[in-house]
Amino acid sequence: MTDTTPETHEPGLENLLTEDRRFPPSPEFAAQANAQQGLYAWANADRVSFWAEQARELLSWETPFEEVLDWSKAPFARWFADGTLNAAYNAVDRHVEAGHGDRVALHFEGEGGDSRALTYADLQREVSKAANAFTALGVGAGDRVAIYLPLIPEAVVTMLACARLGAPHSVVFGGFSAEALSTRINDAQAKLVVTADGGYRRGAASALKPAVDDALTKGTPSVEHVLVVKRTGQDVAWNDDVDVWWSDVVDQASDQHTPVAFEAEHPLFILYTSGTTGKPKGIFHTTGGYLAQAAFTHRNVFDLKPETDVYWCTADVGWITGHTYVVYGPLINGATQVIYEGTPDTPHRGRWWEIVEKYKVTILYTAPTAIRTCMKWGSEIPAKFDLSSLRVLGSVGEPINPEAWMWYRRVIGGDRTPVVDTWWQTETGAIMISPLPGVTETKPGSAQVPLPGIAADVVDDEANPVPDGGGGYLVLTEPWPSMLRGIWGDPDRYVDTYWSRFKGLYFAGDGAKKDADGDIWLLGRVDDVMNVSGHRLSTTEIESALVSHPWVAEAAVVGAADDTTGQAVVAFVILRGDAGGGDQEADAVQTELRNHVAKEIGAIAKPRQILVVAELPKTRSGKIMRRLLRDVAENRTVGDATTLADSSVMDLIAQGLSAPG
Ligand code: PRX
Repeated sequence: MTDTTPETHEPGLENLLTEDRRFPPSPEFAAQANAQQGLYAWANADRVSFWAEQARELLSWETPFEEVLDWSKAPFARWFADGTLNAAYNAVDRHVEAGHGDRVALHFEGEGGDSRALTYADLQREVSKAANAFTALGVGAGDRVAIYLPLIPEAVVTMLACARLGAPHSVVFGGFSAEALSTRINDAQAKLVVTADGGYRRGAASALKPAVDDALTKGTPSVEHVLVVKRTGQDVAWNDDVDVWWSDVVDQASDQHTPVAFEAEHPLFILYTSGTTGKPKGIFHTTGGYLAQAAFTHRNVFDLKPETDVYWCTADVGWITGHTYVVYGPLINGATQVIYEGTPDTPHRGRWWEIVEKYKVTILYTAPTAIRTCMKWGSEIPAKFDLSSLRVLGSVGEPINPEAWMWYRRVIGGDRTPVVDTWWQTETGAIMISPLPGVTETKPGSAQVPLPGIAADVVDDEANPVPDGGGGYLVLTEPWPSMLRGIWGDPDRYVDTYWSRFKGLYFAGDGAKKDADGDIWLLGRVDDVMNVSGHRLSTTEIESALVSHPWVAEAAVVGAADDTTGQAVVAFVILRGDAGGGDQEADAVQTELRNHVAKEIGAIAKPRQILVVAELPKTRSGKIMRRLLRDVAENRTVGDATTLADSSVMDLIAQGLSAPG
């Protein structure tokens, strides 16, 4: 496959600040845009009442709030705390009541080409049935529900049914292993697990239920029932005491259900994400503030016009992007959206563009990895489809290199659409730093400016803001409505992880630079977190998975730059001579250990490469110097190794790697 675009090289970060292409909004776009320049001045004048106004405007409250922000127990925030509302009512019922019941909420496209459209009225019936069925299965307000589903309408219905009942959901991405699932079920003490027999991936039915069965075998005492959606029709093992078919209980339930309002600070969901230690963190979000910022950002960052737009965010609901910009943001705003179950290259590499053409998608939100992959496949593929409906393009999940940004705008957006690079995190709940289409003059590769109502800065080691042109750590300097309310069951870890590095400031874990205009350019993580295809992985978590294999004595993992996935996992392992590992061929070691990581965590965490070494570079205090290993993994001259306990280690590693076999 030849690539017709000339600019496929990956520029170094130093190139970023010499990037001087600028794209001012077109007068036509600016004239019709939801967002106007005045939003910044309004929010700057009084940030807290700005958010209060947004929350009143964009949400329907059962009891209006008087209190806006309570920061007296910082860093534990409470927003709109004396107000009450129901999240599912806001996402579904009120649109039906307003006369939009016939508007399509979800255009579902299955990987095999099957499709289904659900209007807001359909969604109201489905969510009501699910809420009635979950109630009959013993789920009430405050109970946790684990969701392990493919991207099918039932995933959205389940999340909304939980929200309707005030039962926090914990969605676990279908690519995670049984081991990872059981840890998450147990951490949240989930009462119900909702899954499917399987889903379609890369042209084949891929089973899900066996992973739930395995997870339960490992011991998950809190689980009372497993509710199973029939998607693929594949055979499943069945335990009559626990397993229930969706078709037996949900399809049979009444489609009438009256939502009850909950306090704004009632937990809406828990979502696990990797941190710098081995144990994933259950990030938890509450209702009112989260929904307000989800709705505000979705409306303004994507310029959503619910009557005419067809919006498509390619994320899975297993990630925060799927929570905020597939489920809550778009549905709160009454949008029509596409959800697609499968992979971009099944059955052909033009699949996404075929979907854009079919549904006349106007707003597309995806990740840089996907853009770079499509770039590699070649511009002639999207060129075969009519993409003229597109009017806004968004990017999320990792830094987008200027050339990928340019390709996205030029080849997908026909040189016409604004591109918004949106920075945020599972913890922030919603977009924090992004251009506003129609307002901001965009710069390829930069997320640029904190949104109205958001306060961010770049600081040095001593927490001093860096001057324009300087680099340092990204921090958030004021609380925001959709901020995480904590780590499930571990308030101290919340304070330690985010609020201890710089006093009074939220430490995001990202490096950033300010350019001469003061605009922010994100540079990637500064901690032991990797970002592979926009998915967050912890080096320590993968290291623990590796050393749990009997062949492995020690392991060190680094994220090495990768042209397509942003970073790739590269592992260095020392094998145990006594346990059989030492006698294995290099290929056998690779395969065995990669599969082992997939089993322990999930296929997304599989190392791209596993290098067997005799020693690991350590400081005198025993800390592994990952920086040096990253140099090796990225084929660079190894940097300063003078703090190593044994300075010959790097030579040993280099010799070992160049040795044949
Ligand atoms: O490093 C940043 C990167 O993704 C991290 C958050 O990952 P996660 O919680 O999984 O959420 C991803 C989707 C919101 C951040 O700490 N990141 C996210 N968006 C960007 C980004 N890095 C650079 N530019 C972005 N637009």
